[in-house]
Amino acid sequence: MMNPLFKTLFAALACGLAGSPAAVLATPRQVYPVTTEKTQLVYTVGEDGKLIFRYYGPRLHDVDQFSRTKGYNRPDCRREANYEAYPAFGMGYVTEPALSMVNADGSLITELAFEGCEQTTEAGVEHTVFTLRDRVQPLRVQLHVEAYQAEDVVAQWAVIENLGRGEVTLQRVYSSFMNFRANAYYLTHFYGTWASEMKCIEERLEPGFKVIESKKGIRTTQSENASFILSLDAPAQENSGRCIGGALAWSGNYKLSFEVDERDHLSLLAGINPFLSAYTLGRGERFETPKMIYTYSAEGQGEVSRNFHDWARKYSLHAGMSERPVLLNSWEGTYFDFDEKVLTDMMDDAAALGIELFVLDDGWFGNKYPRNSDKMGLGDWQVNSRKLPRGLQYLIDHAKSKGLKFGIWIEPEMVNPKSELAERHPDWIVQSPGREQITMRNQLLLDLTNPAVREFVWKVVDDLLTAHPDIAYIKWDANRHVEQVGSTYLPDDRQTHFWVDYTRGLYSIYQRIREKYPDVMLQACASGGGRVDYGSLQYHDEFWTSDNTDALQRIYMQYATNLIYPPMATASHVSASPGHQTGIITPLKFRFDVAMSGRLGMELQPKNMSETEKAFAREAIVNYKTHIRELVTRGDLYRLISPYACTNNHAANMLVSKDKSKAVLFAYCTGFNRRGVRPTIHLHGLDAAKRYRLTEINKISPRKSFWGDGEVFDGEYLKEVGVELQIARQYESAVFLIEEVK
Ligand code: GLA
Repeated sequence: MMNPLFKTLFAALACGLAGSPAAVLATPRQVYPVTTEKTQLVYTVGEDGKLIFRYYGPRLHDVDQFSRTKGYNRPDCRREANYEAYPAFGMGYVTEPALSMVNADGSLITELAFEGCEQTTEAGVEHTVFTLRDRVQPLRVQLHVEAYQAEDVVAQWAVIENLGRGEVTLQRVYSSFMNFRANAYYLTHFYGTWASEMKCIEERLEPGFKVIESKKGIRTTQSENASFILSLDAPAQENSGRCIGGALAWSGNYKLSFEVDERDHLSLLAGINPFLSAYTLGRGERFETPKMIYTYSAEGQGEVSRNFHDWARKYSLHAGMSERPVLLNSWEGTYFDFDEKVLTDMMDDAAALGIELFVLDDGWFGNKYPRNSDKMGLGDWQVNSRKLPRGLQYLIDHAKSKGLKFGIWIEPEMVNPKSELAERHPDWIVQSPGREQITMRNQLLLDLTNPAVREFVWKVVDDLLTAHPDIAYIKWDANRHVEQVGSTYLPDDRQTHFWVDYTRGLYSIYQRIREKYPDVMLQACASGGGRVDYGSLQYHDEFWTSDNTDALQRIYMQYATNLIYPPMATASHVSASPGHQTGIITPLKFRFDVAMSGRLGMELQPKNMSETEKAFAREAIVNYKTHIRELVTRGDLYRLISPYACTNNHAANMLVSKDKSKAVLFAYCTGFNRRGVRPTIHLHGLDAAKRYRLTEINKISPRKSFWGDGEVFDGEYLKEVGVELQIARQYESAVFLIEEVK
């Protein structure tokens, strides 16, 4: 359905103008709203024919008032107060443009004038396309804005088209520009490293630039994440205040730059990192940027997360509404050291614990160069016949006989120099002429800009799944980033295309897999959480949050991860104690109580568990399957106590069903508390008028963590008075089922 306001110019302009410089065709002061159920973006076209970004906030009753505003849209003040919707370099007042390029005639200026707007709505998504045209050069830019109505999420991206005969080179081409005006800006963003991904930090933005970026090519979210929460005027609160969440759907180099300018306005640019990425477009060629996803909340960052989660389940994450199986991954249980018997024993134990999927991790392949460590064999995707003489099918059949699904680890983008693949195809390796090849984890990267390499990678997956149609799950790993960028495939004058073409190449393989194997579950792993972004998630069912499975560390990591990404996709495993990465000793109950707030799995050798531990694990898995998994999958997340902000060493969150009839409360003690200090937890997210029974589960002793265990309270009491839990020592935890009583 096209908004009548937009029909006017678009129809006239949609055809016939290609190749000719655009005249200024807009009538003055047109107002273009983009609307979701609760929020709105507003653009206007000024008398100078520029498309101006005016507003992102709660939905307004009368947007026409934007055309009355004095002081804006007047040509004589455009250099002072206007922010173009997609600022290009050359004619406007912006320090960091969204688009800069070298035109075919060598000139550096771009000036985009509004040409038309089209708006359609289908299945709850309003799609607006603004068409802009350079006033001198044969160049068209389309700005796309998708507005996901019920989720209050918008996606922005740009398409640049070279309409001329000569080549143009894009120097920077961001997905999105936004501008905010507030008295202060607080940015929550994420940082970390291997085994410590997604720590979050909030800082006040001061005048100047703050940049979140990656130049790693792959494993781009290992250190920072292309996402944030921006709070206007005051630090972010969970249930109040104006917050904007942002996340870039791209697995390659990214850059999000926040500039508080001399007027104390905040400008945000988000998209592919321009770092060494000049991209040439030949005659008629177009460049489409990845999508930048936003959500706005006038009720704090809690709603930002819930909007992202709802949107991800419906529109991004693969199979976003389906429950994920409880799995046992072999990695920390055996590492490279296994044979058939070790694995089948693990499967037997897994089945007895109630696990539903067994995942065979690294170490199952390579013959000339057997994969017994990370030093060799990567790239040789043939079953290691010494370890597994009867092949994968024997294992798959055994899993089946135990009622388990079977999954497998691959890392098809990479190669060990000591491998048959590297011997056969040295030119497939990312490299720069004459330079020593620097390994990372003893491995090199394959060049996915090359179609032959993409075909090889596709075949790794296709051959596995064709030979073994019962493989239900693939863990796709990527354990290094890009150094010595260079491709033997790309022409000399296109080497800077590498970064973009690599990611596009990767996506084309994922796409092929999804088309042929829609039901196979895929996990995105890149040394843990190195590929946690909404670009990769559209092809994956989940991500490996971190190689660090220490429950205490995971409380912090999962808190931060779930600010942006949904719990159902957050793979969270119970592993051995002391934790292999941290050496910290934690009780099994604590480990389960933490892992159960995400996609529950185990990653240890079950035969090392005592009978008491096994009995606890069995019961916890039953609880998860019976009560918790549906809430992890489809529920709303309410964070109740932040581990980062709590002064007395606690953390708590709750998952609530959409109809508010059922919830699960997780509470953790992250450090020792002095006598008498107990967390009072206010249960947000329930229905004030409904009555609920609280029942503690995953108990290890008859002691009650809450005096009201088994009692009935109404939602109002639980929110306003709250519950005070008897958990005071480090690593104590409690899980409560909260069920409506009619
Ligand atoms: C990476 C992954 C681990 C495991 C190993 C296998 O580190 O993050 O989970 O799969 O590789 O080598």
